Amino acid sequence: MLAKRVDKIASSPTLAMGKKAKEMIANGIDVVNLSQGEPDFNTPENISNAAITAIKAHLTDSYTATNGLAELKNAVIASTKKDYNVSLSPDQVVITTGAKLALYTLMQVLVNPGDLVITPAPYWVSYSEQVKLADGIFKAINPSNTKFKLTLEDLNQLDTTPKVLILNTPNNPSGAVYSKKELEQIISWTKSQDVYLILDEIYGKLVYGDTIFHSGLTLSSLADSKVIIINGVSKAYAMTGWRIGWAIADVTIANAMTKLLGHLTSNPTVAAQYAAIEALTGPQDSVEIMRQEFEKRLNFLYQNLSIIDNISIPFKPVGSFYIFFKVDLKFMQRHGYNSTNDISMALLTEEKLAIPSGEGFGMPGYLRLSYAKSEDELVEATKRLQHFFL
Ligand SMILES: Cc1ncc(COP(=O)(O)O)c(C=O)c1O
Repeated sequence: MLAKRVDKIASSPTLAMGKKAKEMIANGIDVVNLSQGEPDFNTPENISNAAITAIKAHLTDSYTATNGLAELKNAVIASTKKDYNVSLSPDQVVITTGAKLALYTLMQVLVNPGDLVITPAPYWVSYSEQVKLADGIFKAINPSNTKFKLTLEDLNQLDTTPKVLILNTPNNPSGAVYSKKELEQIISWTKSQDVYLILDEIYGKLVYGDTIFHSGLTLSSLADSKVIIINGVSKAYAMTGWRIGWAIADVTIANAMTKLLGHLTSNPTVAAQYAAIEALTGPQDSVEIMRQEFEKRLNFLYQNLSIIDNISIPFKPVGSFYIFFKVDLKFMQRHGYNSTNDISMALLTEEKLAIPSGEGFGMPGYLRLSYAKSEDELVEATKRLQHFFL
């Protein structure tokens, strides 16, 4: 019999749907797959070439330090300085095999059995399961405002002070971005309550319109603090397959993470680390080109989805690359759907459109669509949604 912890967690719904969609595509079915948060762009060539060069020079033949190459940590430090004018030391940086592993390791380091971890709903699917894997108690807070943003008011109403608060800005799946003031208030609350604050900033370079992204790094010193920043190259550099992410934290937390990683992955794959160095230190134009393209697609989709009957978008997203929209309850009742899970399955089988339901994001009644896809796919997705929600 397998260990109980396996039964305790759910499979990643976005990965499961992505897998199903890919299988259907492999069987010749014309599926539009908007399930996963994966840019459709190629990794920029200068980045891939850096990995090839490293392989040819045999720089990739040995282990590196568990928490990453010194050059990559320095690249993270240099880009943090450039982007936010904040200075870090290498022992505050832990490079991991994707930001997902940074988050997993962090939960293992921070959470004791029974510890409470909170995050606003909707939230990224893995937070809840990673907390459960650490035997913590996960609780999603439904923010009192329509933009799905956690406020000081919400925090002041909690019955129990959590050990950890996870905040994701720009947000997957809602596309919300916290303002400087909102972040300052939350940071000062976590400080006053002695709560660890994990700020997942993986979509930090992807904001639109006049929205400004504010990193927790600019608002709080990490030394001797309980604020931890999570980031990585997956989203902004079209590098989801390379698996490089990192945590920036106080040295005590960073060292504890490294201790665990020494028994998990050892170092992240070295060729990918060299690619990430180039991503962070090389030309940045590809990031801006992709960002502009995402913004165009957001505008197109927002306009086109807004006029579809029986669905509504709570607010126009301003960051990440998702639209999280609500399905009209009457439509569900009329057609005998018990949940948006059912709708998500019906969209896949009837319309050949893969979009995950809000259930996995802690918010039933919604569907999430990723617009990090080609314009043709988005046009087709709009048609299929229009047909389904008639
Ligand atoms: C909010 C959020 N955090 C972290 C991750 C993990 O990113 P990766 O493991 O690819 O670096 C994702 C990926 O979808 C995400 O959406």
